[in-house]
Amino acid sequence: MARHVQADSDDNARLPVIEVDLEVGGLPKLLAYSTSLSSSALEYRHENGRRYHGYRDGKYLGPNDEQESDRLDMLHEMLLVMMNRELFLAPVGSPPGRVLDLSAGTGIWVVDFADNYPSAEVIGMDLSPLQPQFVPSNARFLVDDYEDDWIYQDQFDFIHGRYLAGAVKDWYTKPEGWVEFQDWDVDVYSEDGSIKGTSVEKYYSVVCGSFTKAGFIISPCPHLGEWLQEAGFEEIHVEKYRASVGGWPKDKYYKTVGVWNLLQVEIGFEAGAMAVLTRFEGWSKEEVNVLVSGARKEVRDPKVHTLADFYVVYGRKPKSSTEA
Ligand SMILES: C[S@@+](CC[C@H](N)C(=O)[O-])C[C@H]1O[C@@H](n2cnc3c(N)ncnc32)[C@H](O)[C@@H]1O
Repeated sequence: MARHVQADSDDNARLPVIEVDLEVGGLPKLLAYSTSLSSSALEYRHENGRRYHGYRDGKYLGPNDEQESDRLDMLHEMLLVMMNRELFLAPVGSPPGRVLDLSAGTGIWVVDFADNYPSAEVIGMDLSPLQPQFVPSNARFLVDDYEDDWIYQDQFDFIHGRYLAGAVKDWYTKPEGWVEFQDWDVDVYSEDGSIKGTSVEKYYSVVCGSFTKAGFIISPCPHLGEWLQEAGFEEIHVEKYRASVGGWPKDKYYKTVGVWNLLQVEIGFEAGAMAVLTRFEGWSKEEVNVLVSGARKEVRDPKVHTLADFYVVYGRKPKSSTEA
């Protein structure tokens, strides 16, 4: 059975059941900036032991420190394993011309894309200038807010956004250009009920509830296909993958995905919870740490079989459209 399905419905039954490896005991052993950086981009916010972006302070609640960069790079490797080492699925044609990556993070997707397609011109945009100085000559980075008035109209053949968990507005590709989003459905679950009543379940319920209360769209992906359709895109395709958290699956593919996922999730628990709970819910750093350490402990328990779905959604701007 395929490991991912075309998600024409929210049909988890069509995804394979991941069998538990009863032997497993726990974790297997296992820039160049084209714009001059305004000082606000480098004036980071330091809070509760983490560092946050300075440009458009408060817009994004995840940290931008070294620990977070390591986590994002682990997630990148997990996604490459999960997607058979494909950086994207949209049939963009070859060679792709001008490409934009929204929310470039550490810049790892941009650098890989630029290496794989030397004739493409690849631009990564982010609120934080985290990206490396030494990058392929066809890659560059911009500090910008993708929710600002859009000045890059009709400039790109392909716009990619991964792990945004934010609002989809209008995506100005060239007519016939492609957009692709890759994101989690953070509504984690287990097929055998083993997540029920655990601190992992509590963590997601508290943190996702708080993001929603604060006005963030925490799980955009199940709606992305619909939103692209409403925005006038065509040839929309929704692909859904299932990722375990931890090395508990018997199948080697799921085990590898699960171990990378566990490594990034363990770091991600604090990254996801600290700002939203202290800024919006009045929690202390210590209270957040209690929630986080409970989730960290139980997510490592091979008896807790946490799963999460990951979506890849792409579509094409119609030929005649000027405003998709
Ligand atoms: C979870 S990280 C994902 C990074 C990268 N796409 C990846 O997959 O590794 C989210 C990134 O989105 C950036 N971000 C959030 N809101 C943004 C906005 N409005 N404009 C530009 N970047 C934004 C953050 O600064 C952060 O680097």
